[in-house]
Amino acid sequence: MQSENIKILAIESSCDETAAAVVENGRTVLSNVVVSQIDEHKLYGGVVPEIASRRHVEAINAVVDKALADADLKLADLSAIAVTYAPGLIGALLVGVNFAKGLSYASGLPLVPVHHLRSHIAANYISNPQLEPPFLCLVVSGGHSHIVAVEDHTTMKIIGKTRDDAAGEAFDKVARTIGMPYPGGVNLDKKAEVGDDSAYPMPHPRLPDAPYDFSFSGLKTAALNIIHNAEQRGEPVSAENLSASYRKAVVGCLTENFLKAAKDLGYKKLVIAGGVSANTLLRRELTRECKRLGYELFMPGLKYCGDNGAMVGAQAYYEYISGNIASLELNAAATKSIEEG
Ligand code: KG4
Ligand code: ZN
Repeated sequence: MQSENIKILAIESSCDETAAAVVENGRTVLSNVVVSQIDEHKLYGGVVPEIASRRHVEAINAVVDKALADADLKLADLSAIAVTYAPGLIGALLVGVNFAKGLSYASGLPLVPVHHLRSHIAANYISNPQLEPPFLCLVVSGGHSHIVAVEDHTTMKIIGKTRDDAAGEAFDKVARTIGMPYPGGVNLDKKAEVGDDSAYPMPHPRLPDAPYDFSFSGLKTAALNIIHNAEQRGEPVSAENLSASYRKAVVGCLTENFLKAAKDLGYKKLVIAGGVSANTLLRRELTRECKRLGYELFMPGLKYCGDNGAMVGAQAYYEYISGNIASLELNAAATKSIEEG
């Protein structure tokens, strides 16, 4: 398979962002258009799947047109059409998958299926042009928390994962109870920056039989109990202090297990990915610890941490050159392991 001068149009609609981008050779972003539905889902305190699907249908045509126009390219200039096909909200994914299938059929261009978490990892290839596998990656998003051994661009092995809530979900639920708008993770992160992280003692959940797995439900319950107990006693809760204490506990679990896995498995090249990789404390703690331990640390630029089309185009390049081309029978899947791709 030719591997130079490959321009891929990539489409992403797995959750609440309708996105499209054109990426060259997996590393150079020629355009990147993201239309967010967050303001509408905010009204309901979380993503409403049915609304998400409808908004994707309304936006996708214009988003894809703009991605091509911004790159100053036509379909005929491209090598392939890529799309996120799993995992995510099934109705939302189907909008992108069907649109991509239509474009592929009409243009005759090959269709490249991209796994959402693989694309989060690939966001790092855009922000860090020198980064190449093998490396160990902490993938932390709204729906997943994984430690993944990335053996090459398309071969991945799950080393650890959450037993219950994902890190982003754990942040969002506590933020919502404190009274912050959806998606709470980023707001909680901002409040935490000015809070006292020792004000509210938190448990440190460990799973002795599975040291690389995570469990955030106990931590989340501890934070929610602090809020409810204070309410019952008519006492105020400091949003800043609770955010800081809770963030420290969640980030403590993530970094401890990630660094243990790196040490045990002998990885010295570490990468973070997914919406939660934008977290200020996670970035700060890992930067400090990796410096101390002599590890290399790679992080996506903040604009590529959340869902976007460019990261899909980055991973699509590696799927394409490894021959991963889908037929027009491609279907979306709400769940799918990153190992299967
Ligand atoms: O990867 P992503 O954009 O979507 C999924 O694939 O799920 O991740 C979204 C998640 C949300 O839970 C959001 O609250 C969280 O990432 N997030 C953060 C921060 N920015 C986004 N969590 C903590 N700190 C942040 N700065
Ligand atoms: Zn995502």
